[in-house]
Amino acid sequence: MRMVDVIEKKRNGNALTEEEIRYFVDGYTTGDIPDYQVSALMMAVYFQGMSDKETAVLTQAMVDSGETIDLSSIQGHKVDKHSTGGVGDKISFLVGPMVASVGVPVAKMSGRGLGHTGGTIDKLESISGFNVEITKDEFIANVNKNKLAVAGQTGNLAPADKKLYALRDVTATVDSIPLIAGSIMSKKIASGADSIVLDVKTGSGAFMKTLEDSEALAREMVAIGKNLGRNTIAVISDMNQPLGYEVGNANEIREAVEVLQGAKVNDLRELSLELSAHMAVLAKVFPDYDAAYKQIEENIDNGKAFEAFRTFVAAQGGDVAMIDDLSLLPSAPYAVEVKAQEEGYVNAIDAASIGVAAMYLGAGRATKESEINHGVGISLKKKIGDHVKAGETLLVLHSEEEEPKDSTEKALQAYEISSGKPDDLPLIYKVIR
Ligand code: URA
Repeated sequence: MRMVDVIEKKRNGNALTEEEIRYFVDGYTTGDIPDYQVSALMMAVYFQGMSDKETAVLTQAMVDSGETIDLSSIQGHKVDKHSTGGVGDKISFLVGPMVASVGVPVAKMSGRGLGHTGGTIDKLESISGFNVEITKDEFIANVNKNKLAVAGQTGNLAPADKKLYALRDVTATVDSIPLIAGSIMSKKIASGADSIVLDVKTGSGAFMKTLEDSEALAREMVAIGKNLGRNTIAVISDMNQPLGYEVGNANEIREAVEVLQGAKVNDLRELSLELSAHMAVLAKVFPDYDAAYKQIEENIDNGKAFEAFRTFVAAQGGDVAMIDDLSLLPSAPYAVEVKAQEEGYVNAIDAASIGVAAMYLGAGRATKESEINHGVGISLKKKIGDHVKAGETLLVLHSEEEEPKDSTEKALQAYEISSGKPDDLPLIYKVIR
């Protein structure tokens, strides 16, 4: 087989065979096929697309390019949750203990954050002693015992995706639905889940800005899951503003714990209940969504979900005193209020700008080598639809500096104030099965 023929076939709009897809994925992973030919193929895919069948084969070939995690020694049906990424997204800390509290095993491999969205692992490390570098045996034993464990991504999962993603990033071929869908799903499938619930974000702070694109991505990922024998559901949820009120590492742990203890932060409670209920149904722990939702909500109100989080933190070496007394979590010395310059209604909050403002404070990494500061972050005081007077506080920056100029400017830019009250935004747009 010659790579030039594969490129030409796709360029002309024809579907590639399994053999052709495996040929270029394997050849690229081993280094036998050069960047320039794979770049040309990625551009051809960008313009010509891929069928569901081709996308599923591409995904499986990327899974097969490296290790896969074998979770078969965990009892029960393992369901993973994946978010396409957003600012203030602390949903994993909610759904993990919520579904664990009803007996669904959650074995989660998570990453660190780069850029303006923080990573799950960084956030958990706000809790002193919390250890994500557990061995595979500890990971599995913890899930069997407590139904919940989180480990940093180890091993060589989907190395073909790693190489292809780096290439796409510099050849303007990231925004291709089949390529994004295959990339995300290859990592989920290599991580060993039996079923997958996807939280596909839509809006200004999301990877996909329009509902149409988000839905296309969701449908493609659900199709891959089905084709590769994983039950997959996608919930399309709003990311036109940060989720909840807190952004930053310790800030997000604090808010998640409050919600687990029953705080009615509506978007967080609602979205995590929705995702958890789908997970519990896929795990066959409940016959239907309503029964799952009701029991999980009850487990928030009776303290079982919070207890599952405590047990999980203790099992991974975290200081539970910090969870019982949230004021012990890391915090920054200065609380700098950013005030509205005019009266009106909050019409928009650009989540990406809030994420960048938090990164400037030190909550995220500008480069892979940057050190995270767990105590800094942002507390939003006003969200879309809220009325604000001139001089009233829009948000608070938790900072190491008395006058964090860049973050203040960036955070202020994120807010759009208008004279009329905007329409309410839906939290959940669609569920794709
Ligand atoms: N996230 C991924 O993991 N892959 C993509 O292609 C885009 C976003």
